Amino acid sequence: MNKYFGFFSELRKLYDGKIKECGLYDDIFSNVYNALAGNNEIKELYAENGFYVGKNILEIAAGDGSNYMIPLAQKGFNVDGVEISESMIARFNENVSKLPQRIKKRLNIIQADVFEYETDKKYDLITIPSTTICLLSDDEDRLKSLFEKIYSWLNPNGRLMFDYRTDQVTETVYASNILTNINLDEKYYFVFQEFNNFIPDKAVVNMYVETADGSKYLASSEKKIITDDFIESVIGQTSFKMHHAYDVNEDEITMKVCVYKKEEAA
Ligand SMILES: C[S@@+](CC[C@H](N)C(=O)[O-])C[C@H]1O[C@@H](n2cnc3c(N)ncnc32)[C@H](O)[C@@H]1O
Repeated sequence: MNKYFGFFSELRKLYDGKIKECGLYDDIFSNVYNALAGNNEIKELYAENGFYVGKNILEIAAGDGSNYMIPLAQKGFNVDGVEISESMIARFNENVSKLPQRIKKRLNIIQADVFEYETDKKYDLITIPSTTICLLSDDEDRLKSLFEKIYSWLNPNGRLMFDYRTDQVTETVYASNILTNINLDEKYYFVFQEFNNFIPDKAVVNMYVETADGSKYLASSEKKIITDDFIESVIGQTSFKMHHAYDVNEDEITMKVCVYKKEEAA
């Protein structure tokens, strides 16, 4: 169930019954997602690791493809993606339809819940970018099983990469600054804020979108606040070996990009 705080909870009361509520990756929010483009340094780290290990990449929870799948296909990789949201897949298909055929043929999206997904295909690099690991971490045993499944989908010497924020703490209750933006071409504006530990150990994102015709939308998304100890504990129970971790800073936000490897069979 969606949870709202502060300004967003009041908005819901103000527009009682006249506001459409959905998930942060569904409906109109899948269009808005593009406006929250990721960090370029981190994107380069993913590509760099791909160049070390091979051509075949799988992105878990791939979204609309604009941040990683498409740029990596443009660099020459073959990129598959698994994504649960129909709206995100519709945006992905729109984005891909504008690409030249030689890039299109390197891209393939599969609609599935990654916890249910199975494949016999093998990859050189499997990625979970844009702090999505926090969306998949509520149940530690389920995450561990996912890591083991990913391990089995990798070629020997293949790598798993994911990133998470290290500036978020679980000890205090605090809200981020409010972020707003207007898109004059697509005729909407949004208001975005993150609420940390309003639910213990969770970062809850609230987002409001209003279009020029007056339609109103509210969404929320709940992520676990991930710590180094949590990741070390879960990964420590899997077959993965640590390869490298990068620290990346951008304004107030600090991120860790982790790379784990599947050791070549003896
Ligand atoms: C933060 S977005 C990241 C999208 C993309 N990886 C990127 O970097 O732009 C998280 C995505 O995870 C998807 N997702 C969440 N849970 C999922 C699951 N269990 N299986 C597949 N996709 C999932 C959401 O629909 C959303 O598109």
